[in-house]
Amino acid sequence: MRFCYTEDYTAMSKKAASIIAAQVVLKQDSVLGLATGSTPIGTYDELVRLYESGDVDFSHIHTVNLDEYVGLNADHDQSYHFFMHQHLFGRVNIKKEQTNLPDGSAKDPVAECARYDQVIRDLGGVDLQLLGLGHNGHIGFNEPAAEFPKGTHLVALTESTIQANSRLFEKKEDVPRQALTMGIQTIMSAKKILVVVSGKDKAAIVKEAFFGPVTPNVPASILQLHPDVTIVGDADAFSLIDVK
Ligand code: F6R
Repeated sequence: MRFCYTEDYTAMSKKAASIIAAQVVLKQDSVLGLATGSTPIGTYDELVRLYESGDVDFSHIHTVNLDEYVGLNADHDQSYHFFMHQHLFGRVNIKKEQTNLPDGSAKDPVAECARYDQVIRDLGGVDLQLLGLGHNGHIGFNEPAAEFPKGTHLVALTESTIQANSRLFEKKEDVPRQALTMGIQTIMSAKKILVVVSGKDKAAIVKEAFFGPVTPNVPASILQLHPDVTIVGDADAFSLIDVK
């Protein structure tokens, strides 16, 4: 694992964006695995800036997002489809038909999961997967469990995740209780993984996930076994580990 220490959220976002931009410059038709959540917003802003200054061309890339809530249509303002359009897809020259997210409004979620895994396989897998880190160690919506889930699957969100995500909804009752998420095997199959972490509230889980035992109780801990992981964090998120 490679730890990349940055001073603050802005520096973290720039560093993460430069790693993604380098990937796209070196391989124009990269398959990027993307994440939502608060942490990557600055990274996406910086990618937009790099696009606007002519440094990166996204027209040949394909994207696959990690996850989507069940029961929200693509145009719901808290859906991850909407988030990606707002923060990245609608602001750069990514071709809409080359972007992919699980369909949270699918009538048959199990069939939708199988379809999504096939999409990823047909693209030849993910070149660079961007991840955030949940307070309970989740990646995508792979919550602490007795085993590591493999492919895309339907999950019941834990109370801690519902609580954390309720800040984005009018009331806690509005937070969807289920999601579709890429599995751990799919995430681990990405050629490269880039994790972004920011803030004091992530310091304890950074230490536990990347320096503690590998266990499905802390899903992100499995990343310790991946051959090419870069963790870009700010001073607060890295405050309990010695990586400076
Ligand atoms: C989002 C996702 C989640 C988030 C995680 C951290 O697509 O897969 O695993 O990355 O919940 O979220 P933030 O960045 O809001 O702390």
